[in-house]
Amino acid sequence: MAISARNFWKKKKTVPFGDCLCGRAASSGQLLVSESCFTDSQHERIFSDMKPHGHYIVPLKSFDNLVGVLFLYMDIHPSWYQHSQEVLLSIGGLIANTIERKQIDEELDAHRNRLEGIVASRTQDLVKSKEQYRKLSNQIQQVREEEKSRIAREVHGQLGQELTVLKIDTVQLGKKLPADQIDLKSKIESMTQIIDETIKSVQHIATELRPRILDAFGICETVSWQAKECQKRNSLQFDLNFPQNPVEIDKGLQTSLFRIFQEAVTNILRHASANLVQVGMTYIKENLIFVIEGNGVGIKKKI
Ligand SMILES: Nc1ncnc2c1ncn2[C@@H]1O[C@H](COP(=O)(O)OP(=O)(O)O)[C@@H](O)[C@H]1O
Ligand SMILES: [Mg+2]
Repeated sequence: MAISARNFWKKKKTVPFGDCLCGRAASSGQLLVSESCFTDSQHERIFSDMKPHGHYIVPLKSFDNLVGVLFLYMDIHPSWYQHSQEVLLSIGGLIANTIERKQIDEELDAHRNRLEGIVASRTQDLVKSKEQYRKLSNQIQQVREEEKSRIAREVHGQLGQELTVLKIDTVQLGKKLPADQIDLKSKIESMTQIIDETIKSVQHIATELRPRILDAFGICETVSWQAKECQKRNSLQFDLNFPQNPVEIDKGLQTSLFRIFQEAVTNILRHASANLVQVGMTYIKENLIFVIEGNGVGIKKKI
């Protein structure tokens, strides 16, 4: 039988909960049969345009959980239909199950979304703090390099100059000594030698602090120079392979690559018992690949 859903809701909305057939079925949890709208005393509301009808009001119960009621409009005296109540009750159970499952699914979805949100925001925090950590350690590295540069300049410039003046004065003093002062003359000579060695040490320290070649020529030249220096002092050969075109990277990155090279060579000398180091720098697409490989014992796995 036909009644527009919109009309039904308009009328139903004005009825307080529990004060109608639906409400009673909902609060009792039992199936309600209303035989005729005109004779049933529970069918309180009668409208002017009402056609004769009866009702089944089926509780939608999943086990003991009532999730709603199914309100069916019927011809009058619906209880004439045999077995209809049992069938409707089990249909009500199925509908209730489906609704309940949907509600659980929605709850699970909401939980999952909340969890995914938490995980996403934690991941973002982690990425952010990793990024901050990286920035901070870059800054520290940069400050250290600047400080080393400053000290290197000062050691090389100031100390170097003063030592040179000292050497000139000492030589002059030696020249002014009478020829018979042999002891003093040889003393002056050994002093000049010590000053020469000290000048060399100062240059060496300044270069160790920060090779000026790095700022003047770049990473490839500096690695070549450092390899030669290392070859002079140790029984370690180097095989260097650099790209044909100049490697254009910023100053900070050049310094990092150089420090990595220094540490790798120190490790090879300390731990590897190697006699050959292969150094390669190549571009693969826009990525610069830097390889330092010694023919030593390799790094042992810790058990
Ligand atoms: N080239 C290498 N050959 C063999 N073992 C190495 C090499 N480089 C590093 N190792 C091993 O890895 C360890 C960690 O290296 P590192 O962090 O540079 O510390 P350190 O050189 O001060 O011991 C070293 O102690 C050494 O056991
Ligand atoms: Mg080391």
